[in-house]
Amino acid sequence: MSDTLALLGGRPVVEEALKVRWPMVTDEDRAAVARVLDQGPLWAQSTDAGLFAPEMNALEHEFAQFLGAKHCLACNGGTAAIHMALAAAGVGPGDEVITSAFSFLATPVAVLHQSAIPIFADIDPRTYNIDPADIERRITERTTAILPVHVHGVPAEMDAINAIAGRFGLTVIEDACQAPGARYRGRHAGTLAPMAAFSLNGTKNFAAGEGGLFVTSDETFRARANMVRMVGEVLPATDHSMAFQHLVAWNYRTQEMPSAFARSQLRRLDQFNAQARANGDLLTRRLAEVRGVEPQHVPTHCESIYHKYRVRLSADELDVPVRGVPFRDLVQTALVAEGVDAVTWLEAPLPAHPIFQRREGYGRGYPWSIAHAGYRYRVEEYPETQRLVDNSLVICSEPHPIYCQPARLIEQYADAIVKVFSQRQALLAAAERSIVRQQ
Ligand SMILES: Cc1ncc(COP(=O)(O)O)c(C=O)c1O
Repeated sequence: MSDTLALLGGRPVVEEALKVRWPMVTDEDRAAVARVLDQGPLWAQSTDAGLFAPEMNALEHEFAQFLGAKHCLACNGGTAAIHMALAAAGVGPGDEVITSAFSFLATPVAVLHQSAIPIFADIDPRTYNIDPADIERRITERTTAILPVHVHGVPAEMDAINAIAGRFGLTVIEDACQAPGARYRGRHAGTLAPMAAFSLNGTKNFAAGEGGLFVTSDETFRARANMVRMVGEVLPATDHSMAFQHLVAWNYRTQEMPSAFARSQLRRLDQFNAQARANGDLLTRRLAEVRGVEPQHVPTHCESIYHKYRVRLSADELDVPVRGVPFRDLVQTALVAEGVDAVTWLEAPLPAHPIFQRREGYGRGYPWSIAHAGYRYRVEEYPETQRLVDNSLVICSEPHPIYCQPARLIEQYADAIVKVFSQRQALLAAAERSIVRQQ
């Protein structure tokens, strides 16, 4: 390994050729999609028994079985699946839904789709998941649901969350978009609450390009979510009298080709997750020895699928004068120069995003204008989320996520991190001379 940092002219540690592109497409995947084109149909058709599409229906059945849930409804995105669940729960205009300040924007936006108000809770600094104690502090008479996110593939603390929901009569919906195959006390994420949503977006461990999966074991929730997916339509199972019912709903239907592709990928999901875990564990072992770096923490009662592997940078443990974002950016620049896919993913806690700061919503302040006209999202109420985004990096990113990389690449990523942290004085000196900023 060359000692000089790549940023300062040394040889990068990482061999680019080792990186594997995601998703991994096999002959079986190609044959599955070709079968749809050869045999059709291409889309879901309305029948007396509901939506009929052989690939979509088989995917629903197989994913429900994979999780150990009763029902699954395939739709066109994880955002749609969250929205279907919120609507099925009866969340309505002006209701409050408590969710994590550390998630993808789609989580709170799905709440706005139901004209409800996202109320953010701060995170547990160890797992980066929503902090149950902060959920409880934020419950009001308008709260109707809790929407925990299994962020980065680590299940949220569901026992505590379900206990709070039970005490206050709230519905829990799991945002399991980043956690297909993750487990909490031996049970799959997606079966830990009355309803759950998964994403089949091309970046996920379970990828179909785009798509979503709504999951429940409750027949009433299934029926309501099905209506929301299908522009409010209910088709009679027993008579043929076209007895449609209508409510305000959306067209969230999916298609046969991505469903066929997803079924084929599902057969290898356990294998991808096992590779993610092996690579995640390898990074954790290697990084445990690096002062100033905190590996991703996974509680012993949880099994992560490492959708993302996040390291926290602790400048306080080091002899460096730079802290927070400038230190993170410096480390990121140095790691990228060494060939490491190091990214921030989220630049700020969700409450800091313009849609929440301006509360324009659909226009004229809706839905906040219903009952929350004076409500303000205060970023300073989320110190743990802020600390995390300012002081951490995701190692491995699209299009080369951790679940399909060879161990040799992960070893090189660890070598690069060791190199950058052992050369931090050279890095800081270069930053002072503005060498880094000019790169
Ligand atoms: C935590 C989380 N929630 C929701 C979504 C939305 O899923 P989709 O992009 O399939 O709509 C995503 C990912 O994209 C996500 O990571």
